[in-house]
Amino acid sequence: MRRTVRGTSTAALAAVAATLLTSVAAAAPGPGAPSVGDPYYPNAGNGGYDVSHYDIRLTYQPTTDVLSGTTTITATTTQELSRFNLDFGLRVSSVLVNNVAATFSANAAGDGELVVTPARPLAKGAPVTVVVAYNDRPSTVKINGFTSWVKTADGALAVNEPEIASWWYPSNDHPTDKATFDVSVEVPDSVVALSNGTLVRTTKNRTGWTRWWWRSTQPQATYLTSLEVGKFEVNRQTTPDGKPFVTAYGADLGDSLGAAKASVERTPEINEFLATQFGPYPFEAQGGVVTTAIGFALENQTRPVYGARGFIAGSNASLVAHENAHQWFGDSVAVGRWSDIWLNEGFATYAQYLWSEHVGEGTAAELAQYVYDSKPADDPFWQVLPGDPGADRQFDAAVYDRGAAAVHALRSQVGDEKFFQILKTWQATKKGGTGRIEDFTALAERIAPGRPVRQLLKVWLYTPGKPFAGPNGPTAR
Ligand code: ARG
Ligand code: ZN
Repeated sequence: MRRTVRGTSTAALAAVAATLLTSVAAAAPGPGAPSVGDPYYPNAGNGGYDVSHYDIRLTYQPTTDVLSGTTTITATTTQELSRFNLDFGLRVSSVLVNNVAATFSANAAGDGELVVTPARPLAKGAPVTVVVAYNDRPSTVKINGFTSWVKTADGALAVNEPEIASWWYPSNDHPTDKATFDVSVEVPDSVVALSNGTLVRTTKNRTGWTRWWWRSTQPQATYLTSLEVGKFEVNRQTTPDGKPFVTAYGADLGDSLGAAKASVERTPEINEFLATQFGPYPFEAQGGVVTTAIGFALENQTRPVYGARGFIAGSNASLVAHENAHQWFGDSVAVGRWSDIWLNEGFATYAQYLWSEHVGEGTAAELAQYVYDSKPADDPFWQVLPGDPGADRQFDAAVYDRGAAAVHALRSQVGDEKFFQILKTWQATKKGGTGRIEDFTALAERIAPGRPVRQLLKVWLYTPGKPFAGPNGPTAR
């Protein structure tokens, strides 16, 4: 499911040029590119096809960490293809392309590339169905030297950013190729299997095992598709506007359980507030999963996951506001390139400021000013560029805090009315797709003509050093 990607980087052009050269050398039809050409993650995604749906059908046994089953990918080719890549690290037993056995090479270089050669080349613009059968222990699998799969005492978690898919299903692993998902996972009766979207049903086909069927009906990025297996208290409720609201709390939360519930159970109320700021909540379901197994939180589509330590000091609605703001900024409108991470973290952090003001705590203006005032000009914080932090600093504090101050600086410059018009127009026009910082800048310039928006964002996002004017403008303080 690929929308138009505006703005093309030099590296992307180089990747395209390389592909063209390869296909000329091999004579058409050539192979699909092994990458989408994202400079931060050179192996991420692939070229030559566009996925519309993943049907993931697995069995997981926590006692052995064995994950087995099939993923069926429905795609359309965007060029003639002699072969193509998927991103996947597990051991593969067979690949069918349009019901015919294909030859394949699975993670041969340890870089998570599954290379598939169909029996006959695929025509351009043709529907294609790929069935990958596999069986492995994900916690033993390394891709580019590391593992993202988390094994727990009673289950496992597939939760990470920017890369997790390759440890549990084959995909075109880049936010520019979103798809809908069916995730069906069979686990022992003593544990549950959680994923995104709506719980369609649970079934029992063999004694001692339950199969959980989850469905996401709106375009979803591969890294935002999650799996949590283990002992959880699962609560199935409905939001005031009639959507499924599924929350799950790890059985081992102990003292954090009360604070976690007091926070995550407020999700519908928080989303109702965020909808007044950004436009309608973009998805068919809401929820949250709390676990002791990770030390961060992640905005998995419709159902963020929270590391329990987020609630160790008490309830934390602010964290819930951050992850749910990502449902708009990050999930519904995803990054076009990973260097665009400010569009996710700057806005999710700013949403925490808006929530704070909404509940009568510090105002957004005060919180943004605090970021500015609390860090002296020689603090290394000011050297990280929120607009292009580098892959190794993608989640640096500067992307979040300087990034949120940048959002407030924009608001100060264009005024409240145009500011919220920019946010809502961005959401409405990019819903279900991706965006780049350049697209956002152009939109802000269009809605606030005559304001030096581009220059302001250049200073806040792309210029090392502490900006001379604070986020409330040159006259404030
Ligand atoms: N997007 C997440 C958040 O800010 C951050 C994830 C960081 N990734 C990680 N593996 N720690 O909500
Ligand atoms: Zn975030």
